Amino acid sequence: MKNMCISLARVVEYAPRKIALLAACAATLAAGVVWTAPVSAQTPIILTGADRRPAISLDGDWKTIVDPYSNGFSGYFRNQKAKPGEVGTAVEYDFSKSPTLKVPGDWNMQRESLFYYEGPVWYERGFTYQPKEHTRVFLHVGAANYRSWFWVNGQKVCEHEGGFTSFNCEVTAAVHAGDNFVIAAVDNTRHADGVPTLKTDWWNYGGLTRSVSLIEVPDAFIDQYDLHLSRTETSVIEGWVHVVVGQPGAKVEVEITELGAKITAPVGEDGRAPIRLAVTKLERWSPETPKLYKVQVRAGLDSIEDLIGFRTVETRGTQILLNGKPIFLRGICIHAEAPYRSGRANTDKDAETLLGWAKELGANFVRLAHYPHDETMLRAADRMGLLVWSENPVYWAVQFDNPQVLAKAEQQLDEEIGTSRNHASIILWSMANETPNNEVRTRYIEAEAAHARELDPTRLITAALLVRGEGQTKIIDDPLGKALDVIGFNEYIGWYEGHPESADVTEWRIGYEKPLIVSEFGGGAKAGLHGGDNDRWTEEYQASIYRHQLGMLNRIPQLRGLSPWILMDFRSPLRNLPGIQDGFNRKGLISDQGLKKQAFFVLQKAYMEKTVGKPE
Ligand code: GCU
Repeated sequence: MKNMCISLARVVEYAPRKIALLAACAATLAAGVVWTAPVSAQTPIILTGADRRPAISLDGDWKTIVDPYSNGFSGYFRNQKAKPGEVGTAVEYDFSKSPTLKVPGDWNMQRESLFYYEGPVWYERGFTYQPKEHTRVFLHVGAANYRSWFWVNGQKVCEHEGGFTSFNCEVTAAVHAGDNFVIAAVDNTRHADGVPTLKTDWWNYGGLTRSVSLIEVPDAFIDQYDLHLSRTETSVIEGWVHVVVGQPGAKVEVEITELGAKITAPVGEDGRAPIRLAVTKLERWSPETPKLYKVQVRAGLDSIEDLIGFRTVETRGTQILLNGKPIFLRGICIHAEAPYRSGRANTDKDAETLLGWAKELGANFVRLAHYPHDETMLRAADRMGLLVWSENPVYWAVQFDNPQVLAKAEQQLDEEIGTSRNHASIILWSMANETPNNEVRTRYIEAEAAHARELDPTRLITAALLVRGEGQTKIIDDPLGKALDVIGFNEYIGWYEGHPESADVTEWRIGYEKPLIVSEFGGGAKAGLHGGDNDRWTEEYQASIYRHQLGMLNRIPQLRGLSPWILMDFRSPLRNLPGIQDGFNRKGLISDQGLKKQAFFVLQKAYMEKTVGKPE
């Protein structure tokens, strides 16, 4: 782009049209700056339980312009209309005549020409709105992968980086009575200084991948609240409610009608009201009894009714305690890939299908890999009684030595934890997956873990570590383990190394007196492909891996959970074996079209008969 502009400069004297183009170039070059130094109109705010607030949905068909050269930053956000016969700075785009894409949804699976597309796409849609007195309005974006910029009525309202967390842009000053329009530029270009970075074993689905809406709140409103069962006093719900522009001394109320419990607390200087609510006859949330309570949170003119389950989670030595009792996590990993139709999962149905299969497997736990999943998934896990490992996308080799990259990971944690902090299902915040064992990396993730603990001291911190080996002995002693409450580790004995039987002779040396979760193991199989136990890619080979793995894992005394890789085949640009992978990672226990492979039943049997793992 830069070169084209420089060469243009030389021909400016020839035609006014070129002057216009040059102006466009200058603007784009200036816009290029946007790529690096975020010039944010406003910092998006984080709303806890935003999906429980009444909202004006902006989902549906949006007009779109695909913009591989980032030309749109020169003015698409003004949404001008080309006027027939116009001369000089002719407008060379027109949303009203442009094709549409569905929101929520990735663009890759909606339009064949965008299947591999990485770059900016412009989205536009109109909406009618009536401003109200003493009311602020926010554009709520469930997720936009990867970088995104938003304008309302041509006015920039915010920008954001990170593809898997929700954010809210204030548009109060930009909206007006009657017809309005919103324009978004979403760019899924991968960046070396991104989180995640350039390489991932999942498809880089781009777009407004989760719901978009308008949320109205009073001038003083509740942005975040944290309500959880005390670990020390069994019948006390504690936490806080934060009120934006909350006047010190103003009253906040938390009420659980079903328990006849209600508390009023004053807002402090920091806008927070500390909450301590004594309750009786509380039914604790657990996978067996996923009890959710309607909880009203009120502050001035603002109120939210959330659905919250109450439970405690902690460790004691090498045990994980749920509600004070040792638990073993019978789990499975899940990508946010939609069953059958492929693309990003984002509906209740997607969540119920995926988690329904996990329940059918006999699981009480799911590792949602490798990034925060949609609120629909977390609500379903709360409802269906599945414990959740939620992960920040510090995946493989991000730039650990780059402070801006740490800031990005911390911002994503702010959004993940700020939005989802009251889900009873979430018990583990994972900081990273398969990162190289070196000091710079360790310091980076220690800082990330400290940030997460500050945001939420009520849950356990983990990460998926790599293991090292000496002969037939596997060793877990990555120094990062010191910063974690629960150690996750990934191993692929029988697939990336050795053969299924290798597990039978593998010994484990564990460098920590902490609970262990094997956060990944497994192997690939094409559904319907059959052969001998040693024929790779057959269902028999995959099933054999599982049988031998389960035997081996039962020999690790402090193993407190497992989440094999993975519930369902998913798209990946790294998987191109014709006739077998065809663009899919085939380590699923179920194919992308819902076909259960033999290994599904091997694991189901072990989970149903509880022959794998010991809670204590
Ligand atoms: C890795 C990684 C996954 C990947 C899997 C695989 O361990 O964490 O994201 O898909 O292995 O190789 O299939």
